[in-house]
Amino acid sequence: MSKTWLVTGTSTGFGRSLARFLANQKNVNLVATARNTDKLSYLDQYDHGQILKAKLDVTNKDEIKQVVKAAVDKFGGIDVLDNNAGLGYISSFEEADDKDAKYMFDVNVWGLVHMTQAVLPVMRKQHSGTVVNMSSLAGIHGAPALSFYNATKYAVEGLMDSFNKEVQGTGIKVMLVEPSGFRTDWGGRSSKKKPSKVNFYSNVNENMRGIEQTAGHEAGNPDTAAQIVYNQVTYHFADLPLHLPIGKSCVENAIKHYSDLADHYKKMTYLAISADNQAPLKK
Ligand SMILES: NC(=O)c1ccc[n+]([C@@H]2O[C@H](COP(=O)([O-])OP(=O)(O)OC[C@H]3O[C@@H](n4cnc5c(N)ncnc54)[C@H](OP(=O)(O)O)[C@@H]3O)[C@@H](O)[C@H]2O)c1
Repeated sequence: MSKTWLVTGTSTGFGRSLARFLANQKNVNLVATARNTDKLSYLDQYDHGQILKAKLDVTNKDEIKQVVKAAVDKFGGIDVLDNNAGLGYISSFEEADDKDAKYMFDVNVWGLVHMTQAVLPVMRKQHSGTVVNMSSLAGIHGAPALSFYNATKYAVEGLMDSFNKEVQGTGIKVMLVEPSGFRTDWGGRSSKKKPSKVNFYSNVNENMRGIEQTAGHEAGNPDTAAQIVYNQVTYHFADLPLHLPIGKSCVENAIKHYSDLADHYKKMTYLAISADNQAPLKK
């Protein structure tokens, strides 16, 4: 039986790679969405009645509602929601503009939340479904110039960690895709940059320049990412990993970060326990 995938942000990058990969699968119905559907003409060659292109800005709740309805009307349900749409805002913590940082939260966090909330009644009715979320290595540890972007991806990780516990045993599964640098539009046009004017945070502009210079040359291949995501959801549904690191840099950094953190918490154990009433206080 065909599985229906609804993917947000399929104009470029990971979303386009996934949409193209899904369009090539026999047993897949694809709902490919974008803010501007003219950018989905790359799918025309595949259109075989199993593809629905739809306009969707994930910050627009009416459009979310319409897309979910259109998907169910055409294909009878939604098996996989891929919350892919996202963007960056790169600045120092001190100089960040509220408007830009809040808009990034609207897309990266609230867009994903509202999409998921709109699709869940469909998945509950089916007693099955998979919610795939584009997180990032930036959801695992912080970096200069990325504090607010980090905050959006930490939010996605936290929301989905709890949500994953809520859906245990219901037939609904959750996955967080955690890429390191991949060759998409993210580091270029999709990330607004505000260079620091304060002659204090040298590593902010340095990291910003690094992202700009690496844009288009990142190690990660979004076409391979699409295949990995599809394979996990399709063939590993029963034991779907909550965390799916992709890219060498992601898995290596994550292992180092969490082992350093574990060492730190071990060192803090005696002090932490001393805060409970039963143990003597240690200075
Ligand atoms: N590339 C990386 O190295 C990397 C690493 C970790 C995580 N990620 C995450 O991967 C996801 C996809 O980004 P990407 O790397 O593929 O970059 P991308 O090529 O810039 O693609 C971003 C996509 O999101 C869409 N989008 C932006 N705002 C939207 C909105 N309000 N409503 C609907 N769609 C919207 C864009 O559409 P438009 O064409 O209309 O702008 C585009 O289709 C993001 O969540 C990003 O944070 C990327």
